[in-house]
Order: sequence, then C-alpha cells, then structure tokens
Amino acid sequence: MNELNALVDSARAAFAQAAMPAELENAKALFLGKSGRITELMKGLSALTVDEKKSRGAAINLTKQSIEAALTARRQELADAELQTQLQSEALDVTLPGRRRGQGGLHPVSLTLERIEAIFASMGFDVADGPEIETDWFNFTALNTPQDHPARSMHDTFYVEGGPDAAPHLLRTHTSPMQIRHAVQHVKRYRAAHEAAGQPSGELFAGAMPEIRVIAPGRTYRVDSDATHSPMFHQCEGLWVGENVSFKDLKFVFTDFCRTFFESDDLVLRFRPSFFPFTEPSAEIDIQFQTGPLAGRWLEVAGSGQVHPNVIRNMGLDPERYIGFAFGMGPDRLTMLRYGVSDLRLFFDGDIRFLSQFE
Ligand code: DAH
Repeated sequence: MNELNALVDSARAAFAQAAMPAELENAKALFLGKSGRITELMKGLSALTVDEKKSRGAAINLTKQSIEAALTARRQELADAELQTQLQSEALDVTLPGRRRGQGGLHPVSLTLERIEAIFASMGFDVADGPEIETDWFNFTALNTPQDHPARSMHDTFYVEGGPDAAPHLLRTHTSPMQIRHAVQHVKRYRAAHEAAGQPSGELFAGAMPEIRVIAPGRTYRVDSDATHSPMFHQCEGLWVGENVSFKDLKFVFTDFCRTFFESDDLVLRFRPSFFPFTEPSAEIDIQFQTGPLAGRWLEVAGSGQVHPNVIRNMGLDPERYIGFAFGMGPDRLTMLRYGVSDLRLFFDGDIRFLSQFE
C-alpha cells in the first residue's frame, strides 16, 4: 500500500513540475500510458491468487484514479495560468480617459484679420478679397510703378511663367492691386447705371457715384526672410475714394482704428513723410504706446498717402472730380505688437504648442 501511495505522490510531484501542457502530457505517459507505471502494476497481477488479485486490483484502481484526478487538477491549473498570462498581456485600462479630438481654434493672425475687418466694417468699409497670383499690371503698372521704376526692386517676388494670355504673373507683393481691382468694378457698375439713364460718360468717369470705401486683407509674398520678415506675410489694404476725402480723413480713420484695435487711448500716431509711387503725398504711419512694455518707441505699422492721380485714372475715374487716400498695413506686425511676440516666424511654423495659446 505504501508503495502505491508513494506512486501517487511521485505522480503529483511530476505533474507539479510540468510548467507547460506538453510537459504535463509527457509526465502523464510515465504513469498512465500504455507502458506506464500503472500498466506495469496491472501486469504484475497475473502472478497472484484470485483473492490477492481482487484486493490488489482494487488498490491499483484507486491509485490510478488518484493519479488521474491529480492530472486533471494540474491541467486545470496550467490552463488557468495560461489564461491569466493572456489576460495580463492584453490588459486594457478601462479607467484611462479617452483620446479627445482637439477643438481647434483660429490662428492669431486670423484673429487679427477678423478684428481689423470688424473695426473697419463699423466705419462703413466693405471687405474685398482678391487673387494672390497677380498680373504685372495690377501689382505694379496700374499703381504708377512702370516696368523700369526703381521701386520695383524693393518688391522682389516669385514670378510665374506662362500665365493666361502669356501676361507675366507673379505672387502679389502687396495688397495694393486690390485698390485697382475693386475700384474698377465699382466704377463699372455706376458708369453702366449712368449710361442706362442716357448720360454718356467719357473715358474717365466723372459722374456721381457712392464713395469707394474698402479694405482688402490677404496673403502677400516677397523674397525676404528673417525674424521680422517672412516670404509669405499678410497685408491689409485700405481705400477711400470720394469727392471730398482728404488727408485729414485718413488721419482720423487710422487713429480711430489703432486706438480701437489696441484698446488704448494712450496711443499716439505720427505720419512720417515717405515715398510710394501710388500716393502723393505719402506717409509712413508710426504708433507709440504711452504705457506698457513698448512705451516710448515709435513702431511702424503702415504706409499711406493720397491716391496718385495716375492711379485714380487707372481706376477709370476722373481725378478732377475724385480724390482719396489709401493705406497698407501689416496684420502680422499688429499681431506681434498686440500679443508681445518678437519672432514673426513663430506664426508660420505651425507649432501647436505656440498657436494654441491664442485660442
Ligand atoms: N503697398 C505698400 C507696401 O507694400 C504699402 C502701402 C503704402 C499701401 C502706401 C498703400 C499706400 O495703400 O497708400 O509697402
């Protein structure tokens, strides 16, 4: 009997040693297989008497059942362990917060453009949009800057070959071409109304029409790149043409704009004499904050002037009747000043960590 108990013990020990199901099946063969220990014991029965066979046979059977039970238990253990390992490797922390889709927000320069548009809209200005690929005519010639004009060299840009009707095309160097584009449309509309009413007009329109009051924000391009210049930058053009519009109106409009934009009455403006081919006289507009980190420094924010008679003519208007002012400002610059950013390139690097601060 003792020998049978020992056999059960050694089977249990062998099963416990098996770490994998395949090892367990090998161990099983040693005890329960065709030539395993149990079979061996059974063979030994033939040498016994009938009575001895009965009791010995029953004992061997019990031993076999114990070994089978140990095997089943160990199989279950291994299966449980395997399941456990698998569960761990596929573990999923359902308490982790989900991945949110970013909300997104407007680019700081877009925020500035919206602000500029809202302020000028409140002063009765339309907002016009125009092409970034422009013709030589609108970008330069119509703006009193003929082919050989030295002012062109300050506007080096990217030229596009073989545009429609083979006219030279370029990435516009400023938003000023929108002065001409918008005014021509405006004049065409009122000239047609006059002619329909039986009032012929000459080559240059001198009839009555509502004033032209427009801003044209958008992207512009020049071969330029440093901390305060980017080859792509923004401008916003302004134009006010009527019969009685003067430099005084320009000063009023632009001063009012700057104070509203920066939400500060502690801001003074300086109109510094300058030159632009499309205005005469011309002035650079500088602003100065009286308080805050930039206090006391003159900061250039726009070019401006009274629209040159040649430009008025290229709009299709008679300069004897129509006069106006124009300005072109840099929304990127205004954004830098408003938020205290010192490197323009940050705006166009597309780094979310920088941009998300303005949402
Ligand atoms: N277009 C000029 C530039 O890019 C800026 C400018 C100056 C626009 C005077 C104007 C103006 O409309 O009147 O430097």
